[in-house]
Amino acid sequence: MRYLESFVDEVIDKYLKPVETMWQPADLLPDSRQENFFEKVKELQESAKELAYDFWAVLIGDTITEEALPTYESWLVGMEGVNQEENTGWTRWIRGWTAEENRHGDLLNKYLYLSGRINMRELEISTQYLIADGFDIQTGADPYRNFVYTSFQEIATNISHGRVSALAKKADNIELAKICGVIAGDEMRHARAYKAFVEKIFEVDPSEMMLALEDMMRKKIVMPAHYLRETGVKIGLTFEHFSNAAQRLGVYTAQDYVQILSSLLRDWKVESVTGLNEAGEKARDYLLALPDRLKRVSDRLKTPTLEYEFSWIGKRHHH
Ligand SMILES: [Fe+2]
Ligand SMILES: [Fe+2]
Repeated sequence: MRYLESFVDEVIDKYLKPVETMWQPADLLPDSRQENFFEKVKELQESAKELAYDFWAVLIGDTITEEALPTYESWLVGMEGVNQEENTGWTRWIRGWTAEENRHGDLLNKYLYLSGRINMRELEISTQYLIADGFDIQTGADPYRNFVYTSFQEIATNISHGRVSALAKKADNIELAKICGVIAGDEMRHARAYKAFVEKIFEVDPSEMMLALEDMMRKKIVMPAHYLRETGVKIGLTFEHFSNAAQRLGVYTAQDYVQILSSLLRDWKVESVTGLNEAGEKARDYLLALPDRLKRVSDRLKTPTLEYEFSWIGKRHHH
């Protein structure tokens, strides 16, 4: 981490954008100071009517996942080699990354509030639960494992926000398409950063990096919201239904998991990494064979059809 710190200092401006020129949630939402505010909200609610039940379930799950940012920041700060008292390298990276990510939940939450379709109280309960319940991404405090996880997750969120954006566009909801589109853009930039960290570690500590990657893939990358729950619902169930809705919509599927793994193996040139010890070579063998194995499994998986009523999605009460 000490060695990498100078690299982080070097590239931080490449992967994080200056606050002054960055988009903010307010750029993508009606301005409540304007006289036409209520008109704009009406338009927003009109275009929200076209969106399907599963779509809302996914968008809400995505929002709650983004809102649990305190969990992710505190986890990363707990990595070995991060010292909050020093305002250099890793501390600046984690703070800058957090500051960018914080806009995602902020923007999505406000959109959902304005949409008129959501039971906000239930959404807020789930958010509070999720932050209180925390997560276990099985990385420990090891930076190598954490950077594998974050590389994977930033790509996964890029894919899912991007697909939600495309679905919104298809439903003629251009504003929401833009909202999810700019978020997806951030995720891609963050993915590039975390991938660059791993790439750098492969250069100087190839065997340990390979073993960390193998270990994470053996354990499987869990989603950050795997403890997601609603009022009165056991941990696990809500997440499963959320994940099923995402699969039905094609927003994030088992095939995507395999694709992300394949793209990481390719971009990190795992096949041609040199200087591996025996354990490292074995780990590589396992990793290179993994995408085909997972693909065979995912091809056999059926998309779950079970319909589920989330407490988050408000039924309309007519008077
Ligand atoms: Fe995000
Ligand atoms: Fe992210």
